[in-house]
Amino acid sequence: MGSSRLILHFCLILPLFVGNLSLGADPYFQASCVNTAGNYTANSTYQANLNTIFSQLTSHPDFNNGFYNLSAGQNSNHVNAVALCRGDRNQDECNTCLNETVSELRQRCPLYKEVVGWSEFCTLRYANRDLFGELETSPGSCLLNTQDVTDADRFNQALDNLLTSLSRLATAGGPRRKYAADNSTVGVFQTVYAMVQCSPDLSEEECGDCLSVAKDGIGGCCLGKIGCRILRPSCFLRYESVPFYQTPLPLPSPPPSPPPPPQSSTEGNGNQTTFMIINVVALVVGTLVLLVTSICIFQRTRNTRQHLLATDDDEVIRNDSLQFDFATVGAATNNFSDANKLGQGGFGAVYKGVLPNGQEWSEKQLLPKWGNRGGPDKLCMEILETGGQL
Ligand SMILES: *[C@@H]1O[C@H](CO)[C@@H](O)[C@H](O)[C@H]1NC(C)=O
Ligand SMILES: *[C@@H]1O[C@H](CO)[C@@H](O)[C@H](O)[C@H]1NC(C)=O
Ligand SMILES: *[C@@H]1O[C@H](CO)[C@@H](O)[C@H](O)[C@H]1NC(C)=O
Ligand SMILES: *[C@@H]1O[C@H](CO)[C@@H](O)[C@H](O)[C@H]1NC(C)=O
Ligand SMILES: *[C@@H]1O[C@H](CO)[C@@H](O)[C@H](O)[C@H]1NC(C)=O
Repeated sequence: MGSSRLILHFCLILPLFVGNLSLGADPYFQASCVNTAGNYTANSTYQANLNTIFSQLTSHPDFNNGFYNLSAGQNSNHVNAVALCRGDRNQDECNTCLNETVSELRQRCPLYKEVVGWSEFCTLRYANRDLFGELETSPGSCLLNTQDVTDADRFNQALDNLLTSLSRLATAGGPRRKYAADNSTVGVFQTVYAMVQCSPDLSEEECGDCLSVAKDGIGGCCLGKIGCRILRPSCFLRYESVPFYQTPLPLPSPPPSPPPPPQSSTEGNGNQTTFMIINVVALVVGTLVLLVTSICIFQRTRNTRQHLLATDDDEVIRNDSLQFDFATVGAATNNFSDANKLGQGGFGAVYKGVLPNGQEWSEKQLLPKWGNRGGPDKLCMEILETGGQL
C-alpha cells in the first residue's frame, strides 16, 4: 500500500447526470476561472459592481425566458454578465439555479474578473468586457458518464442524426430562445435523449457554429459513452440514455412575430417530474444488478481507462465527487476491517464505507487476478443508496 498513485476503478450505477430537482447544489457544477483577464482586489469597486450584478440576479428578476444581460459600473470597473437558464425550466427553477450558481462562483473563483459557471439548469458568465452577442466556445468543459454504450455504431449514428436535427431546430428558435430537445430510438430497446441550447443573443449562424463545435467535442470526450454534457460559454449539448428534460414553457407570444409552435400542455409539471424520477428509480433498480455485473466483467477485459472529465481546451477536470484516493477508501472502511465487511461476493469482499461527507457506500475489494495493471490494489467501487447524490 506504499504506492500513492493508485487508480480506482469505478463501477457506476447511478444515472449520473439525471438531475434531481430537490437536491440543492449541483454535484456536477463546473467553473472556469479565467486567468488571462486578471484579478480584482478585495473590496474594490469592481467587486462592488459584481455584487450589484449578483444581487440583481438573485432577487427574482423578470423571467425574460431565462436570459439575462446585466452590467454595472464604468470604465475599468465595468462588469458585464450574461446568464441563461435551461429552456425547459420555469422561473422558480431558474432563480434557484442562478442563486446557487452565484454562491458557487463566489467560492470557487474569488477575485477573478472573468468567470464561467455551468450548473445543470443554468450558465452564468461575467467579465470586464462585452459578452452580449459574442460567440464564445472556450473555455469549455465536458462531463461524461463512464459507462459504455452496448452498440456503439448504432448509438452514435442515432445520436448524430438527433443532434443534427436538434441543432437545426435550436438555431431557428429566434431571438428569445434557442433550445431543442428530443429522443431517438436506437434499435429496439434503447432510446437516446438529447438537448441543445444556445445563448439567444447569438445569430442563427453563430448558434449553429457553437453547437457544431460542441458536437465535435464529443469525439474527444465521451464518444461511445451513454451520457455526456458538453459545456461551452455560448452553448451546450447533453445526451443521456434516460429522459432528463421536460416540455419547455411556451414562449409568450409577442405582437409582431409568428405564434410559437403548438406545445403539449404543461399542466402537471410536478407530476411529470415525479413520474420522471420514479421512472428513473425503477430503471436504476431494475438494471442495478445487471449493470454492476456487466460493467465489472466488461471492464476487466480491457485496460484501465482513466475516468477523467476532460475539456477540449488545455484543462482537464477531474470530478472529485467520483474519485477517491486509496487513503480515503481505507479510512472510510476502517482499513477494510472485518467489522465493515458486508459479505463475500463473486468479485471479492464487500465492505461498508462512510465517506467524509457522511454518505455510506459499499465497495468491493477485488481479487488480484481481476485487473492486469493495478493488481490487488485495484478496487471496483459501487455507490449504493446515496439517494441520488454523490
Ligand atoms: C487570482 O486569484 C487567485 C486566488 O483567488 C489566484 O490563485 C490566481 O493566481 C490569481 N490570478 C492572477 C492572474 O493574479
Ligand atoms: C474587505 O472587507 C472585509 C469586511 O468588510 C474585511 O474583513 C477584509 O479584511 C477586507 N479586505 C481587504 C483586503 O481590505
Ligand atoms: C446588453 O448589455 C450590454 C452592456 O450593458 C448593452 O450594451 C446591450 O444593449 C444590452 N442588450 C440588451 C438587448 O439589453
Ligand atoms: C439564495 O441563496 C441564499 C443562500 O445562499 C438564500 O439565503 C436566499 O434565500 C436565496 N434566495 C433565493 C431568491 O432563492
Ligand atoms: C420521444 O419523443 C416523442 C416526441 O418527440 C414522445 O412522444 C415520446 O413519448 C418520447 N419517447 C420516449 C420513450 O420518451
